[in-house]
This record gives sequence, C-alpha cells and structure tokens, in this order.
Amino acid sequence: MINLKSVDIEKKKITTLAVPVCEDREIHDGILKTLCGSAKKFKEFDGKTGEEIILHNPPGVNITRVIFVGLGKLDKIDPEALRVFAGKTVKACIQKKLTEVSLATPSANDLKMEMGGLIEALLEGAYLGNHRFDKYKKEKKLKALNSINVITNPGAVKKFTRLVPHVTAVCSGTLLAREWVSTPSNDKRPGAFSRMLTREAKKEKLKTRVLTDKELRKGKYGAILAVGEGSQDKPRLVEIVYAPKGAKKTIALIGKGVTFDTGGINLKPSGGIEDMKIDMSGAAAVAATLIAMARLKPKVKVVGVIPVVENMPSGTATRPGDIVKSYAGKSVEIGNTDAEGRLILIDAMTHALKSFKPDIMVDIATLTGACMVALGDKIAGVFSHDDDLADAIAAAGKKTHERTWRLPLPEDYQELLKSEFADLNNMSSSRYGGAITAALFLAEFAGKAKWAHIDIAGPAYIKKGTPYCEAGGTGFGVRLFCELIENLTS
Ligand code: BES
Ligand code: ZN
Ligand code: ZN
Repeated sequence: MINLKSVDIEKKKITTLAVPVCEDREIHDGILKTLCGSAKKFKEFDGKTGEEIILHNPPGVNITRVIFVGLGKLDKIDPEALRVFAGKTVKACIQKKLTEVSLATPSANDLKMEMGGLIEALLEGAYLGNHRFDKYKKEKKLKALNSINVITNPGAVKKFTRLVPHVTAVCSGTLLAREWVSTPSNDKRPGAFSRMLTREAKKEKLKTRVLTDKELRKGKYGAILAVGEGSQDKPRLVEIVYAPKGAKKTIALIGKGVTFDTGGINLKPSGGIEDMKIDMSGAAAVAATLIAMARLKPKVKVVGVIPVVENMPSGTATRPGDIVKSYAGKSVEIGNTDAEGRLILIDAMTHALKSFKPDIMVDIATLTGACMVALGDKIAGVFSHDDDLADAIAAAGKKTHERTWRLPLPEDYQELLKSEFADLNNMSSSRYGGAITAALFLAEFAGKAKWAHIDIAGPAYIKKGTPYCEAGGTGFGVRLFCELIENLTS
C-alpha cells in the first residue's frame, strides 16, 4: 500500500503528484523546481503553512494534477511537518475520491535533515493518514487510497527500501490500537476484548495466554477481581509474549485495559463518563506493540501483560471502604472505586515480575484526569526513579512526536496514600498532585525491575481529527514503544 519508488517525473504518466513547498527556500531540483516556480507565480500561493494550489496538466510533464502544499519557512520544517504534509495530502486525496497519490520527496540537504528520517516521516504520515474508522456507518462514503508512492532518487530507494516494511509494521500496529480504542464498549466487554487482542496476536504467531476470573481467584489476584466485581463480564489477564531465540534481556509492558470506566460506586458524573470507552488505551498500545514486535523482530524478549476489566456499579460491586488483598500480598483500602486503574495495574505488574522477571517494566495507562490538568491533552506524563529509562522514553517520544514530560516521584508524598486499616489506600488524602500519587501507588509494586509509568489520559484520544489522525483513538504509545525497544536493543 505504501511504496518507495524512483520515477522519471518528466516522462512518467502520473495521475496525482503532491509536492511540498518551502516558503523561503528551494527544496527541489530539476523539473520539480520549475513546477514549484510556476505554482509560486500565482498570487494565492507562497508556500506558507496551510496554503495549497492545484495545477492541472502543467507543461513539461505528463501529470493530471499537481498539488502544491505549503510547508512554511525552512527553519520550521522538521519530520513532524513532513508527517503533517503527507497525512494532510492523503486525506485531501481521499476527499477527492482518488485512489492513489505520489508524494515528491524534498532534498534532504536543503532541509538540513537526514534522508532516512525524512523518508520515514513521509511514509508514516501517509500511512497513518490513510485510515478511516467507518465500521459503524452503513454508508461508507469515503475510501482509503489503494496506493501511495513516495518518490525519490534511485540511490535513496536502494538505501531506504527497508523503511517500507518497518513503517508498515509500526503504523499498522498504531492503526490497530486506534481501532480498538474507537470501538464502543458494548462491542469490547472484557471477554470480547481479550479475544480481539489474542486473535490478532496469534495471527503473528505470538504466544498468548488468558487467565480467566476462575484462575485469577485461585491465584489470589484480589485487586483485579475487586474492580471487576460489579460487571457481569468477568475480568481477564492477557499475556502476549514475543520471545526470539538468544534474547538476553526481557522487557515487560503493562497496559491498563478498562473496557469502560463508569467510576463504579463512585459513579462518574455526566461530562466525565461519556468518553470512558477509551480507558483501555494502554492495553491497546501494549498489544499492538507486541504485534509490531513480531514483524520488527528485535533481539529482546518483550512480554505484554494486560489486565482487562469493566468498572461497573451494581449490587455486587466493590464498595468504597472495602479492603482487598493484592496479588503481591499488600492489602489496599478502596478509598475510591474510580481509582481502579492502579488496582488492576499492580496485580498485572506483580504477575509480570513473578512470571517473567523482567529487566525493564513499563506500564501505560489512561490513569488520571490530574495528568491532563497538568500537561493538557497532547502530552503524556512519565514517571520513573531511573534517569536512563526516563530519558530513553523522552527521546523515543521526541523522535515519533508522541510528546512526554517527566514528573517527579517525591518520597514524602507517599504518606498521602496511608490507610488507617490497610497497607495502602488507593486514594490520596490530598486533592492535589493526583497524577503523582497514582504513580507513587504503582511504584510500591515495581519490585527490582527498572520501572517507568506513562500516563496517557490526555493523548490517548482526540475529539477532532488532526492531519494524520482521525477523531477517536490515537494509538499513542505504539510508535513510542517500538522506537524505545529498538533503541534499547541496538
Ligand atoms: N480513567 C480515569 C482517568 C481518566 C480521566 C482517563 C479522563 C481519561 C480521561 C481513572 O480511572 C480515574 O477515574 N481517575 C480518577 C482518580 C481519582 C478518583 C483518584 C481521576 O482522575 O479523577
Ligand atoms: Zn476511574
Ligand atoms: Zn479508569
């Protein structure tokens, strides 16, 4: 579906060619430079960000339509600007009911970028922009493009062909996560959602295992069970394992899988409950990353441990004030049934530690509204006692433009989680610093592994589409994890 090709633009018949144009610098050579010049002769087009002009059958080439897209000034053009260009262009072509498009690659020298990074960004933006979640619409008015060609010189095609399967693996994983998040909760209750994850994982020949509520009861996973108590669709714990031969290290990824978060007996009010189908975004990111791993084949063992529950109020639901015993053996007083994410995560973390003895453990969760208050809805919070791991996560997010910001784990805030009767309370005694106290609660269960926690309550979901993401689930975390794991192993 995406290709990296070299074609003679002067001779080849092309239906649609999209050309990125810089406002204050030439970034193409030869015939493309001439074409950009003719586009800029029009008063309405200077190459400013957001500007677009289409020339039909311009002289000197055999191209039906050339779409020129403004990128703005040279010093503002980075890989993200190229993802945006590619995504926006693909979306515009979908709107025009076209079936394919070719994207012209600008010169890396002129952009002061590395060619591989430039091509990768174009491929990513194009792949991610070429997606429609229309499963629930009777009439499917618009269709994704059949083929997208990124056009570059023969040398670059040879050198960077490997980027095509790489981007395809990472971005198809991202789209899978987006679809799971956007799926309504009536179609992804714990049993069904667990099956969705394992079905896709099995297609890639990954090893999977699902612990049912019976097994969880037998194993004394008291925290996961407590959260699932109010739902008729019982909790599960899903394992997905990528274990290449000769791997020396193990990375465990833990993803919060609350298929719907009503808040439980501490019921969420209107205005807070409507979007809670997204509360399994961490689970989606972890499962999709494992699926991408099966194709990327890094030399490290990666295990996904995913607790899946539905947080419902009912006559059988856990009450505020109840005390439960976690799988690790520590007792927890349920100060608030809406702080359910940390409960299911601690049992999953303990399970990962006991079963796989990971060197590194990273959990990802739509954990707190407080993290959104702190960082807004585009930036994830990162917590870790380990500077190297925190830096590696920040660097991976910077590369993929899944932005993160590290927040502290102050020791003296730990006392906010004290309980009169149990070892811990799942609710802080302070109104403030909710993202931090949630992370501190998890930190108690990290054992000896290098551990980090990523709070994606903000960036997991968008209400309005962006150039390379439709409204709905964003798949935040999948590209970041793929980058992180590849960096940790290279
Ligand atoms: N799933 C929510 C967090 C959330 C909020 C995710 C908004 C996405 C968007 C989580 O389970 C929750 O309810 N957290 C509470 C914690 C509180 C009760 C300590 C919160 O953030 O208010
Ligand atoms: Zn909640
Ligand atoms: Zn939740």
